[in-house]
Amino acid sequence: MLMSWWNLGKKSHTRETTTKVANSNFEVDASEAGSGFVSSTNSQESSSANAPLFRSVSLPWNKSVITEPSTKPVDKNDLTESLFETEWVSLPSGGSEPSLGLGSYLIISRDAINLELPQGWQGIQVSDKKELEAILTQKAWTHVAMLSTGHEEDVKLALWLLQAVGRNTDSRIKQICFATKFGSTDDAGLWGLSRTFRLEYPEIRTQCLEYKNTQYLLSAIGQCFERSEEDEFLSDQNGKIHVSRLRRCTDIESSTKLSLRGDASYIISGGQGALGLVAVDLLVRRGAKYIVLLSRSSMKPEVEDKLINLRKHANIELLSCDVSQEVDVLYAKAWLERKKWPAVRGIVHTAGVLSDGTIQNQSSEKLQVSYSAKVNGARYLHTHLCHQTFYFYFLLPLQPSVLRDRETMQQLMQHWTHWH
Ligand SMILES: NC(=O)c1ccc[n+]([C@@H]2O[C@H](COP(=O)([O-])OP(=O)(O)OC[C@H]3O[C@@H](n4cnc5c(N)ncnc54)[C@H](OP(=O)(O)O)[C@@H]3O)[C@@H](O)[C@H]2O)c1
Repeated sequence: MLMSWWNLGKKSHTRETTTKVANSNFEVDASEAGSGFVSSTNSQESSSANAPLFRSVSLPWNKSVITEPSTKPVDKNDLTESLFETEWVSLPSGGSEPSLGLGSYLIISRDAINLELPQGWQGIQVSDKKELEAILTQKAWTHVAMLSTGHEEDVKLALWLLQAVGRNTDSRIKQICFATKFGSTDDAGLWGLSRTFRLEYPEIRTQCLEYKNTQYLLSAIGQCFERSEEDEFLSDQNGKIHVSRLRRCTDIESSTKLSLRGDASYIISGGQGALGLVAVDLLVRRGAKYIVLLSRSSMKPEVEDKLINLRKHANIELLSCDVSQEVDVLYAKAWLERKKWPAVRGIVHTAGVLSDGTIQNQSSEKLQVSYSAKVNGARYLHTHLCHQTFYFYFLLPLQPSVLRDRETMQQLMQHWTHWH
């Protein structure tokens, strides 16, 4: 799971990155110099008649050695080889005013935009798809920022925006930025949608910004637009901008140990599915004795067959339960109590429905199909079955094209991690 960058406790790895201004006088220790070189003009030398126009100075970091890609096979048992996490790196401050590049800047939101916009920027409140499409053709916009109001409805507006921009081959829009307020979870899907759009339309830069302090929102958006090589930004309480970098996981040891208790119950939503069955097998091998599978359909014969052996080691029951329905999850909870099964200490949430599609083939209704089982299901399971003695909650994300759900679950997980 990606780390919460705001958590400045033991897991915080934010570091300062400084920019060095180039100097034309290079002072380099020859003994350290590699064979690379750079041409530099120097005011003193150029004033001398005999001095060459250019001077070659070897730079120590410019080595001519080309490293061949490693042929060493990756050790699949060594997690340090393959697990990465996000590190947020702070950038030098860009000032509190948004800088103005060339172009026409549009800011849209479902709410009224109460910000003092600089010249060249226009803010428009949008409520429906037709209105949005009309606004987009009103002017030759080059940059569009969308201010989220923190609700699921914002994801719908973002989908309309991306579909309209993607469809219009004459559009001059080259950058789109979604701004979400720190702590909101219902609009986390904006980050997923923008990642999907980025893959499908690499020629249009889609950026995401999470901000903490509205005072610095405009300058943060301005900095996003300026840094067209970056995709994701965080603006902290003081308006400092951070960008994400990948690095190898550092705390793998603590995340690999999973031993289960025989006096606890474990829940697997979507337990009849492919991954659900893998999870049952794993939980039994790790010592679980009470396992409940949740599924909308009744026991399938092939699943029944697979459970024969596992049932010799553990009590495994299937409950008919649609996890997207709160009442069904409450029913599962009541069943556990009635049967006097031990307290739930772990949930593996694999329930999910495939609702795949490219950006142009998506609709808010289609997105809702997968969202209900994944995100609403995750919320209900957490609300009604997780408690203080809880041990783990493993959420399985959906396929990449529905990154909206994955991002929302990621946000939920970060909140719940702090809660537990
Ligand atoms: N398999 C992979 O390689 C892979 C890779 C990446 C992500 N995933 C994700 O991981 C999840 C599980 O994958 P899978 O391959 O095991 O899928 P699967 O075989 O289709 O199983 C999904 C299970 O979820 C259950 N389900 C769906 N909606 C439900 C609901 N509202 N309440 C309760 N149960 C529900 C379905 O059973 P009923 O129809 O009986 O309810 C089904 O058994 C999916 O979300 C998938 O997108 C899978």
